[in-house]
Amino acid sequence: MTTKRIRRITVPDIQARKNKLPIVSLTAYTTPIARLMDPYVDLILVGDSLGMVIYGMPTTLGVTTDMMIAHGCAVMRGSQQACVVIDLPFGSYQESPQQAFQTASRILKETGASAVKLEGGEEMAETVSFLTQRGIPVCGHIGLMPQSVQTMGGFKVSGKNEEQSNKVLKDGQAIANAGAFAVVLEGVVEPVAKMITQNLAIPTIGIGASPTCDGQVLVSDDIFGVFDEFTPRFVKRYATIGKQMEEAVKTYAQEVKERSFPAMEHCFQPVGKAK
Ligand code: KIV
Repeated sequence: MTTKRIRRITVPDIQARKNKLPIVSLTAYTTPIARLMDPYVDLILVGDSLGMVIYGMPTTLGVTTDMMIAHGCAVMRGSQQACVVIDLPFGSYQESPQQAFQTASRILKETGASAVKLEGGEEMAETVSFLTQRGIPVCGHIGLMPQSVQTMGGFKVSGKNEEQSNKVLKDGQAIANAGAFAVVLEGVVEPVAKMITQNLAIPTIGIGASPTCDGQVLVSDDIFGVFDEFTPRFVKRYATIGKQMEEAVKTYAQEVKERSFPAMEHCFQPVGKAK
């Protein structure tokens, strides 16, 4: 018997998608979710959004490298074909290019993922260049940068005036010139996201950006409708899994209380006894 080996999408494959078929990307943090989305997505992002989505943290600032590695390994076990990119968490790379190299090389070695993502524009260009020259593929992330929530004073859309537009344009250019293979544009007003996409030689992956971006990414729990709370404008819900999960728990609780679960078919019998 021959088993067909599935080839994993590579970083150069993603980079070659500039101005071509849009890059489909979602976040995943666990093996079963990675497994179910793997045939349909090009790039799985193990985002540090896991701090908020999985661990209930108020921001992404408390996420550690060990957490990213544990979830990165889980996603690698669940995927065969998607290119897996893992976020560098807050405080693990901003200090120096050397610190970024230590963290990124550890993440790639211990997970087997293809690349890392880091937040920042012009100020991180030296680090991006340091990493890419040493064999670490980097995806940039500009615009709304959740790790800068404290300095931004909240999760704010960027590019709303000329000063902000110029800044985000320069950030994109700096990251691309430094050797990033792609860049996430988060929370950037549409015309500016479109302009960045037209100006950069690398693919842009939008979230709250523009339909003209070279790809789109969303947090998977948002598209599944796991939470019933506030949904940002850029999210489209494709399911309401949270409601179904709550219904399942409610029905289970009711059946346990009224002793209708477990039924005999869920019980084991001694050897030789009829079912
Ligand atoms: O952490 C994350 O999930 C992200 C995406 C929202 C782009 O950075």
